[in-house]
Amino acid sequence: MTYVRCEDLFKIYKVADLEVVALRGLDLSVEAGEVAAIVGASGSGKSTLLNILAGYDEPSAGQVRVGNHDLVRMNENAVGEYRRNEVGFIWQQASRNLFPYLTAVENVALPMLLTNVPSTVRMKRAEELLELVGLAGRKDHTPDRLSGGEQQRVAIAVAIANRPPLLLADEPTGELDDETASEMLDLFGTINQELNTTVLIVTHDPNIAYKVGRVVMIRDGKTSAEIRRRVSFRGIAGTADVQQQLEEFILVDGSGRVQIPKEFLDQLKIKERARMILEDGKVTIMPDGA
Ligand SMILES: Nc1ncnc2c1ncn2[C@@H]1O[C@H](COP(=O)(O)OP(=O)(O)OP(=O)(O)O)[C@@H](O)[C@H]1O
Ligand SMILES: [Mg+2]
Repeated sequence: MTYVRCEDLFKIYKVADLEVVALRGLDLSVEAGEVAAIVGASGSGKSTLLNILAGYDEPSAGQVRVGNHDLVRMNENAVGEYRRNEVGFIWQQASRNLFPYLTAVENVALPMLLTNVPSTVRMKRAEELLELVGLAGRKDHTPDRLSGGEQQRVAIAVAIANRPPLLLADEPTGELDDETASEMLDLFGTINQELNTTVLIVTHDPNIAYKVGRVVMIRDGKTSAEIRRRVSFRGIAGTADVQQQLEEFILVDGSGRVQIPKEFLDQLKIKERARMILEDGKVTIMPDGA
């Protein structure tokens, strides 16, 4: 079942008289219960996409649906409700995820306060969540008395406190060393399996391709290619299996557009136009003069 669906999504930011097109006709579908990673160069639109999916920002045009929610046509109350119940969000900067003056367990309990979970249930559930992320022993620590990796674990517990079906993480491992980052990814896998949460992780880390079922590449505000580990594999594997055959696909949008990687264009000196022929069940694109 398709759970997240973006169709022909545009986001244009206006700064003074300048327009920045952050998303240009992006398509993306994610199945319920899937774990997908989103990779792409700096400025390609990854955070913009995540912020729209989190309900922090609105698209300029196009369609976005998450479950039964139409994110384009939500009023302010519905957006607030959506953010509290449907999505959990983790920022790259650990400090942005937690309130500095609250302890770990208080931080985790806070989102449940906003959804009116009774206080005894709240504290009990907050402790269980800290146990799930492996931090039962740090429950009374404020963030300044936790390591970066521990802070991000608490952030995950905060993000899933109201059991949202969707977990969004914008470079959650960006400030961590490789080993801690790898453990964090495993934790996303555990959450995906135990709570059946759909997980979308933005990352710069190419090794993630070996851990998740699907890696979607964004180029210039549009999904352009994807790598699948195995067609049937949807979660996060505990070990990065570098030997595992990865399949790479280019993505074709609703209008038949594909993106040709810049390296290919440069190598073949293709600029504004090329030739395309259909032959033997293949489409071949070649330089104009070929
Ligand atoms: N609030 C904003 N106002 C104006 N322009 C913005 C805003 N947010 C992002 N942009 C622009 O939109 C484009 C996409 O930005 P975005 O933050 O989505 O990229 P990103 O892929 O997350 O990059 P990074 O890997 O560096 O985090 C960039 O050109 C950026 O300058
Ligand atoms: Mg970003």
